[in-house]
Amino acid sequence: MGETFGTEYDFTRNQTIPNRILVVDDESVVCVMVSGILVNAGFTCDIALSENEALQHLASGCYTCLISDIRMPGIGGVELIKRARAMDRDLEIILMTGLVDAATARAALKTDARDCLVKPFEAEELVHTVVNALEHRRLVLENRYYQQHLEEKVAQQAEMIRSQFLAAIRSLAKAEEARDEYTRGHSDRVSDLALMIARTMGIPYQERSMIQLAGLLHDVGKIGVPDQILLKPGALTAPEWQIMKMHPVIGRDIIAQIDPPPLLIEGILQHHERWDGKGYPEGRSKTGIAQIGRILAVADCFDAMTSARPYRPAFSTEEALDRIRQARETQLDPEATDAFLYAIERRQNQTPLPVETPAPAVPNLQAALCIA
Ligand SMILES: [Fe+2]
Repeated sequence: MGETFGTEYDFTRNQTIPNRILVVDDESVVCVMVSGILVNAGFTCDIALSENEALQHLASGCYTCLISDIRMPGIGGVELIKRARAMDRDLEIILMTGLVDAATARAALKTDARDCLVKPFEAEELVHTVVNALEHRRLVLENRYYQQHLEEKVAQQAEMIRSQFLAAIRSLAKAEEARDEYTRGHSDRVSDLALMIARTMGIPYQERSMIQLAGLLHDVGKIGVPDQILLKPGALTAPEWQIMKMHPVIGRDIIAQIDPPPLLIEGILQHHERWDGKGYPEGRSKTGIAQIGRILAVADCFDAMTSARPYRPAFSTEEALDRIRQARETQLDPEATDAFLYAIERRQNQTPLPVETPAPAVPNLQAALCIA
């Protein structure tokens, strides 16, 4: 048998370690005989002549198997096993007994020993019993290792798929924007303005990152709006408007495929809701609209007004700002509007906003998209 059974593989440390066995019996002749057989079979053995001595050995935590007599003059084998188990949940335990009476058998059964050897036993039976016990230990440790690492692996894969899908949606949003020369660059600008508002409002970093991302993706649902409506140079008819007004819902449905944070969903779905309840698609009002939706609405409005349309030239910045002020508390959330007006004025005067406190680690989602 030799070296075959002398070691076990430690998955957590990625190395082979010796199978170290502790043999406990108050009769030294038994200890010497048992350990001699096991050493010949390739195991590493220590012996203990009392329960206390055994506990001192076990405290080192370096044993894979304990072989103990039941009847000993100290606390006894059954109590020793209880304490050994409390010290190491994976320790394999084998009992030895010279008596096969009912009381001893009951006591042995109540312990969680793997097996029981009745003295006198053959060398082969001893080695076979130890090998079986250590095989059980190996399977338990191996299963536990794979289970833990499988969960990690699955979580990593899921995050990677989400990030890749999101990156693909971002590309889709860009491609969608390219259909219309009048809105080219719109999502980048809305994202930038929304982030500016969020910073001014003191919104925490994680949420700001999501607001920034929602700005990039807010109009992705326009992919579902036909060219003759999206690119129509004149005013839309009522039925055409109904189709156009579906784009936040289509965008929500696209992004929902990756089970994104609720904030992202809210931003995309609610960026056309109005403070006075006259927006779409759900006609929410005031704080019934998620804050991210109210912020995006201000950013979206300003950029739409300062961009040219086929049916009108771009408004000047001053004119657009005037209209934003007029829309405060009718179309737009007053708090987000005030933050926008404050920040845009500082930006125009080139007064930088106060330096932020360092942001926490970038979440994987944003890291994958390379946004700050
Ligand atoms: Fe939109």
